[in-house]
Amino acid sequence: MSLLLGVNVDHVATLRQARYALLPDSPNAEPCPCVASADALLGGADSITIHVRGDRRHMQERDAFLIREKIAAPLNLEMGVTEEMIAIALKLRPEFVCLVPETREEVTTEGGLDVVSRRREVGDCIRLMQKNGIKVSLFIDPEVEQVKVAAELGAEMVELHTGCFGNATTQTVGAELERLREAALVGHQAGIQVNAGHGINYENVRLLEAVPHLTEYNIGHSIVARAMRVGMTQAVREMKALISHYPVVK
Ligand code: PXP
Repeated sequence: MSLLLGVNVDHVATLRQARYALLPDSPNAEPCPCVASADALLGGADSITIHVRGDRRHMQERDAFLIREKIAAPLNLEMGVTEEMIAIALKLRPEFVCLVPETREEVTTEGGLDVVSRRREVGDCIRLMQKNGIKVSLFIDPEVEQVKVAAELGAEMVELHTGCFGNATTQTVGAELERLREAALVGHQAGIQVNAGHGINYENVRLLEAVPHLTEYNIGHSIVARAMRVGMTQAVREMKALISHYPVVK
């Protein structure tokens, strides 16, 4: 089996909201994240990722329910650990949720969820999701302690935050890859699925071949940006071709 690709279509909604946030019922409201999801599937996406944020800056609840209804692929809902989002997840029933930290000021998810300090709250959320048949991933910084606590809490997956790797310079990228390697190894040894996401693009993706035991990448911004030049289906196809080199160890 090759590495899986989850395509995050939030930024398709970002573009629509830039013009139509105040006119949600306009027949002109475009582009549609559900259509983009269908196009991503044609290009070989293995799952679709959406993040309904507390401030609804991009995805709206109705996008989430439309994608759930129309798109025949596993759905990954990124969500803050809040009562509002837990209620949405239980109604939406995606295959997976990825628990992320969320603050209103941030441009995007800027750090991993601190599962060490938020152990109890995160543990409660994991159990509730799992009781309802939803698998849980935790978006965490690539730190051994975070991975160990994620495993202790019974999460099926972790998604290692690759933001620092994505922003690294030639001087610092080696150290970032080493952090990711160590965290991935600990996750693998603890028996949980290890994914990676944030800031992965067409240029840096192959460097991640140095990180063992990864199962899935979650990529949004660079695929949506590439889609503006070649279309979503081709953008996903190109990323799938790049990640097909990843040395998956059975
Ligand atoms: N994974 C998580 C948990 C995220 O919050 C994001 C950003 O929405 C991504 C992956 C995708 O990051 P990017 O848009 O930089 O590819």
